[in-house]
Amino acid sequence: MTKGSNNQWGDATKLVHGGTIRSEFGETAEALFLTSGYVYDSAESAEARFKGDEEGYIYSRFLNPTIKMFEERMKLLEGAEDGRATATGMAAVTASMLCYLNAGDHVVSAKALFGSCRYVVEKLLPRFGVEVTLVDGRDLAAWKEAVQPNTKAFFFETPTNPTLELVDIQAVSDIAHNAGAIVIIDNVFATPVLQKPMEFGADVVCYSATKHIDGQGRCLGGVVLGSQDYVDDYLHDYMRQTGPSISPFNAWVMLKGLETLPLRITQAEKNANALAEFLGSCSGVETVHYPGLSNHPQHELAKQQMSGFGTLVAFELKGGKQEAFDLMNKLEIIKISNNLGDTKSLITHPATTTHQRLEEDEQLELSITPGLVRLSVGLEDVKDLIADLEMGFG
Ligand SMILES: Cc1ncc(COP(=O)(O)O)c(C=O)c1O
Repeated sequence: MTKGSNNQWGDATKLVHGGTIRSEFGETAEALFLTSGYVYDSAESAEARFKGDEEGYIYSRFLNPTIKMFEERMKLLEGAEDGRATATGMAAVTASMLCYLNAGDHVVSAKALFGSCRYVVEKLLPRFGVEVTLVDGRDLAAWKEAVQPNTKAFFFETPTNPTLELVDIQAVSDIAHNAGAIVIIDNVFATPVLQKPMEFGADVVCYSATKHIDGQGRCLGGVVLGSQDYVDDYLHDYMRQTGPSISPFNAWVMLKGLETLPLRITQAEKNANALAEFLGSCSGVETVHYPGLSNHPQHELAKQQMSGFGTLVAFELKGGKQEAFDLMNKLEIIKISNNLGDTKSLITHPATTTHQRLEEDEQLELSITPGLVRLSVGLEDVKDLIADLEMGFG
């Protein structure tokens, strides 16, 4: 590891130098160790490594130097004791829960979740005997009332995908901890730059690195971060034996993405603030959902637990699906895509894509109306994005 790699550095320094493993060739850029396995000097050495008596790499499903660098850098950024990278964000969310839970356990989860996260808690966990109660994540009393003697974990996103509702991380963590449960947060929308859930009591933080961490729409990846005990006692074996590991190539792309993450997030967030203000002034827009707007119902909470309001804005068009589709189809710079967290601004119609699995009444309960669109704001000149939207509304 780089001499002096430590927790005292600021985020930008951690993201450029943290966790670097430099090979005998002294390369400046982090090396891509594109290897599935490793060779041993002797059969005795192989035996000793498998027994844990000798340090060293065994197999890239277990550990790989490039993946290790990515994990180390994420740990430093998050302030987590340990973590494991995964093949996708959904592999991270699934691993974070399956590694910890047993049949007979109970989970309390917010209802407002990305469609696949909702599938994991609502459909997958019950198949393995884990009971789940879904609550309105904004309602502290609902979290408290949902607790049962067998409650083992709370799960939520904040801000949520796609309507940017917030959950009070500190208050909900206190309820969970009083009940003896751990708190698992999907921090994708906030990014590790703008929100540090562990500072407010979260025990486990998951990312889809596919989003802002790569940030240039190239590779899938994820990461689960937690305490040393959580990783040693639960996550480590689950990852090794079930194998949702990230490819070394994807980990290398993520690692290099981290170097520019704060710069990209800061600029995209500025653009998002400007677009949210602009959208609020458009006559065709009924509502703008953005925690940075002073009229967002949870603006004060956003100021408490986020250092910036994020790069995603959702807005509801007067009219419905046809008006939303018409706008999306007219845009030239902003591209239609269900992905997010890219340098390119991307627009999505959640009701027919990311959240289409939900029944209509479930969508409406989460304010996913036919007129709602989600905008992932990128790094283009903001004046061009505004002009594109003006043209789209025209
Ligand atoms: C909030 C949230 N969590 C998890 C995921 C899943 O990430 P991935 O596509 O990398 O599996 C997404 C992806 O859209 C997301 O928006």
